[in-house]
Amino acid sequence: MAEQKSMHGLWRSRWLFILAATGSAVGLGNIWKFPYIAGENGGGAFVLVYLLCICLIGIPVMIAEVTLGRLGRQSPINTMHALVKDQGAPKFWGGIGWMGAIAGFLILSFYSVIAGWSLAYVIRMAGGVFDGATSDSVGATFGDLLANPEALLGWHTIFMVLTIGIVSRGVNKGLEKAISVLMPMLFLILLLLLGYSMSTEGFGLGINFMFSFDFSKINNESIIVALGHAFFTLSLGMGAIMAYGAYMPQKASVGKTVLMVAGLDTLIAIIAGLVIFPIVFTNGLEAGAGPGLLFQTLPLAFSQMPAGTLFGTLFFLLVAFAALSSAISLAEPVVAWAVESKGMSRVSAATWIGIIIWLLGIGSLLSFNLWAEYTLFGKNFFDVLDFLTANIMLPLGGLLIAVFVGWVMNGKDVQEEVRMESPLMYTVWRFILKFIAPVAVVIVLVNGLIPS
Ligand code: PHE
Repeated sequence: MAEQKSMHGLWRSRWLFILAATGSAVGLGNIWKFPYIAGENGGGAFVLVYLLCICLIGIPVMIAEVTLGRLGRQSPINTMHALVKDQGAPKFWGGIGWMGAIAGFLILSFYSVIAGWSLAYVIRMAGGVFDGATSDSVGATFGDLLANPEALLGWHTIFMVLTIGIVSRGVNKGLEKAISVLMPMLFLILLLLLGYSMSTEGFGLGINFMFSFDFSKINNESIIVALGHAFFTLSLGMGAIMAYGAYMPQKASVGKTVLMVAGLDTLIAIIAGLVIFPIVFTNGLEAGAGPGLLFQTLPLAFSQMPAGTLFGTLFFLLVAFAALSSAISLAEPVVAWAVESKGMSRVSAATWIGIIIWLLGIGSLLSFNLWAEYTLFGKNFFDVLDFLTANIMLPLGGLLIAVFVGWVMNGKDVQEEVRMESPLMYTVWRFILKFIAPVAVVIVLVNGLIPS
């Protein structure tokens, strides 16, 4: 395909692409979701399956997704459309872009609700609510927040307004600058917390829980959750990374860049686990406490640390920022599409899309209180959206991307665009993308979804 130009601008350097993609990847998935699903699925063996999924499926698919984006240089929907035409492939493949857009809507709707919790905790920490906290009192504080739909709605609204505010300003203004300051700060505070958790009695137990591989705890459902999380945490399978790839400078090597992003993302998830589980075990909390795990462990840690109020406030603020830098990448693919194809201005595209997502989010926040009893297969609205997107739509999107790049596209076009310096690496990547990743995803999906 002839070289394309992005109408939305480009990242100013390869580094800024790395930061933006890391900003997208590192978010609630790492700090909130990974520890609680690892806790619910028994720890060690789950962590191992997750790491395998990152290496054997996530990284190769991420390389493919960035490559598609950079070739097409448009929103994922239009990029796929253009590539399908250029490669003479059946139109059906264009569905990758559409399914991704829908997944982005659904994910952002519940993501914003959880990000709202972290905003609420900024105020609670700063107000000294957790001074002298006990494991019971943190549980009660969290329970009170969830039982209050008005409060949840307020925080969800604030978070959506922030997200849409940034997306409507476009790629270069503000976003690049903000993440280059916030991401390193988040990392530093996590390291500080790691220092604290290493000093607790439960540190050994925490390590044990995360790294002792007890395979009896693994079943089809936990494997599908691990695979789904690998996609979720790397922002794969729905076009976010494809959209960001479209703004990547031409010269940069995709392989190295992706390794860096995936490495940072994984490191931050592991550190978050090493911070949270020792606190769980030291304070007699439940590792399988579910979505509230982060919000019930860390306030305890902060209440016991010197200057805990300050660090706690800062920490939840940074969690909210990490969520924000992911949220914008959830909205960007659809906003970019509306600007390209519907002739809308960025501001009105972002606003309309934001309103629809905000409305959907209300369903998720009600599933923690008024709608808690409405369930499907034992899952409330929030659980259903989470399961459907992370564990089905993203892996399916990733599978289609792997097959499209591995089998449908002309190999020469792909090789030219990925720009891997080492021919061996290229061969390995292509082999995994063609054979291992698709087969693994199919097996996990079939086993996990079809009751035996
Ligand atoms: N990767 C983000 C996180 O871990 C979530 C996300 C998923 C962002 C999909 C974009 C696309 O929090």
